[in-house]
Amino acid sequence: MWDYTEKVKNAFLHPQNVGDIADADAVGEVGSIVCGDALKLFLKINKETGKIMDAKFQTFGCASAIASSSALTELVKGRTLDEALKITNQDIADFLGGLPDQKMHCSVMGREALEAAIANYRGESFPAEPKEKVVCKCFDVTEDKIRKVAIENHLTTVDEITNYTKAGGGCGECVPDIEAILTDLWSIKPPERPSIPKKLTNLQKIALIQEVIESEVRPGLQADNGDIELIDIDGNKVTVALRGMCTGCLMSDVTIKGIQEKLRELVNKEIVVEAFQ
Ligand code: FES
Repeated sequence: MWDYTEKVKNAFLHPQNVGDIADADAVGEVGSIVCGDALKLFLKINKETGKIMDAKFQTFGCASAIASSSALTELVKGRTLDEALKITNQDIADFLGGLPDQKMHCSVMGREALEAAIANYRGESFPAEPKEKVVCKCFDVTEDKIRKVAIENHLTTVDEITNYTKAGGGCGECVPDIEAILTDLWSIKPPERPSIPKKLTNLQKIALIQEVIESEVRPGLQADNGDIELIDIDGNKVTVALRGMCTGCLMSDVTIKGIQEKLRELVNKEIVVEAFQ
C-alpha cells in the first residue's frame, strides 16, 4: 500500500536528533497518542542571533512520523526562527524524497510542531485562536487546520484532506463538513466515486481480493512492521487478522477501514471487511 523512499527508510531506521533538551528554550507539542500520532519538539535558540542551535524530538507514531520528525530537526538547525517558519510540510516531505499520499499527515504534524515551538518561544498561544471549531472529532482536527492545509497543499478532495490531516479517516461523520469546507474554499463539486470493475464470478472475486491484499495492502503494513492474514471470504464479507505491530494497534480500526476502502475501490463496492476476533 505504501512505497517508502530509501531516505524515509533510512530516517526511520536511523533517526537523527531523538530525545529531549533539558534546558530547551522552546517546546512544541502536537497530536495525541489517542489519535495515533504525537510529536514533541525541543529547540535550543541563540537569543542574540535568533538562530536554532539544536533541535530534538520525541514522537509516537509510524515510520513516516519518525522520519518526518527527524527530517524536521535537520531542516531547522542553523536557521533563524523566521527562516524556520518558512519551512512547509512539503519541504519536509521533499527532504525525504517524498512520502506516500496516505502519510502526508506526518509532514503536516512536523510543520505544526515547529509552529507550536516557535509560538511557545515567543509567548504566543498555539493555535492562535484556542476555541477553533473542531470538525473531525475522531482526530481532533479543526476547520482552520483543514483550510490551512488545503490552501498550502492545493488539496481539493476529502481523500486528500484525510491523507494530510487524518480528518475523515475514522467514523466518517465529518465527511460532509469537510466537503462543505472544500466547496467553500474552491467552489468544487464532491469528488466522483471511483468506477467499479465489471461483474466478477465468485472465483474471480476471491482471486482479486487475494491479489489486492498481496500487492496493495501487505507491503504497506510490512513497511510498518505489521502484517495481515486473510482468514475468510464469505460473499462480500472479508475477514482478516492484523499481525505483527498491527496487533492491538490503536489505529487498527482505521487500518481495517482503509483495507475495506481499497477492496471496494478495486474489487466490489459492497465489500465489508471485518477483523478476526
Ligand atoms: S469525526 Fe471525522 S472521522 Fe469521525
